Amino acid sequence: MAQIDYDGRVAIVTGAGGGLGRSHALLLASRGAKVVVNDLGGSRDGSGGGSVMADAVVAEIVDAGGEAVANYDGVHTWEGGQAIVGSAIDAFGRVDVIINNAGILRDTSFAKLEEPQLDLVLKVHLYGAFHVARAAWPHLKDQGYGRIINTTSGSGLYGNFGQSNYSAGKMGQVGLTRTLAIEGAKYGITANVIAPIAKSRMTEDVMPPALLDRLEPEYVSPLVAYLGSEACTQTGRIYSVGGGYMARVAILEGEGATFDRVPSPDEVADAWDRIEQVGPGSAEFTQGVMEQTGKIVQALGISLE
Ligand code: NAI
Repeated sequence: MAQIDYDGRVAIVTGAGGGLGRSHALLLASRGAKVVVNDLGGSRDGSGGGSVMADAVVAEIVDAGGEAVANYDGVHTWEGGQAIVGSAIDAFGRVDVIINNAGILRDTSFAKLEEPQLDLVLKVHLYGAFHVARAAWPHLKDQGYGRIINTTSGSGLYGNFGQSNYSAGKMGQVGLTRTLAIEGAKYGITANVIAPIAKSRMTEDVMPPALLDRLEPEYVSPLVAYLGSEACTQTGRIYSVGGGYMARVAILEGEGATFDRVPSPDEVADAWDRIEQVGPGSAEFTQGVMEQTGKIVQALGISLE
């Protein structure tokens, strides 16, 4: 069996004070990574803050014999990104792995969306991934090695009622990931993005207990630890992951219809079946977050009765 280790590697995990980020940080540290545990320590909607959450995870890592430092800067500002990477350089002299995981929710229907819900959600999810990856980039490039793992969501990939802000920020991370994979290729930098489903303070009131009980964050972290390791050179990919289920998600394009001159709208209507057609193939379209979750429920044989 492959042995995934992080000896000599330094990882930054944003939003690592709880939920998925904590789980990623603990697993990487247990495999030898020196970890910067970043967390602003705020509430689910991004308000407030403090050092307690990040400090607690650092204590857990140190108690288990690992190495970690806390960082309390917000990923949502350019300066925050610089300071988070600065913590890695100051404490450990390098940075190898970036796990952009920090997140907040400010759900509202699009009709009720106001600037505070749009601004901070995009800043944390989309700008945050930029800020930390951009601050780390010169270090990764100079050393010819880097692993970036971003965190999208089924809400981004498929849309979800009440989450236009969050969906857009999350899908933005997919675009960022795919371009970083291209720009990083010649420097040994990979970039991948996960769409996790896990029990956390973000989901504890939106999923049934029978499902949540099987969705411990620890089921997501092994994929992250593999993607973040030297052993994995896969890049530019999207993965759906939760509860022990892991699957590649792909963006598909059909054969389409081709016109050798500017078509009329009527000709577009006539060719609609060919424009719409994707496949045939084994991959299936996932129609929404509920179906993404449903696939996991089915794969795991969980009964929600
Ligand atoms: P969580 O709320 O436990 O974790 C998010 C962490 O980010 C919190 O500890 C929070 O304090 C921190 N944070 C928020 N704003 C920050 C900022 N500006 N700078 C630094 N840290 C900040 O929730 P969970 O579920 O662990 O979420 C982790 C990531 O996974 C998020 O990006 C979330 O959107 C994503 N995700 C989670 C899903 C799930 O089923 N739990 C589903 C899809 C995506």
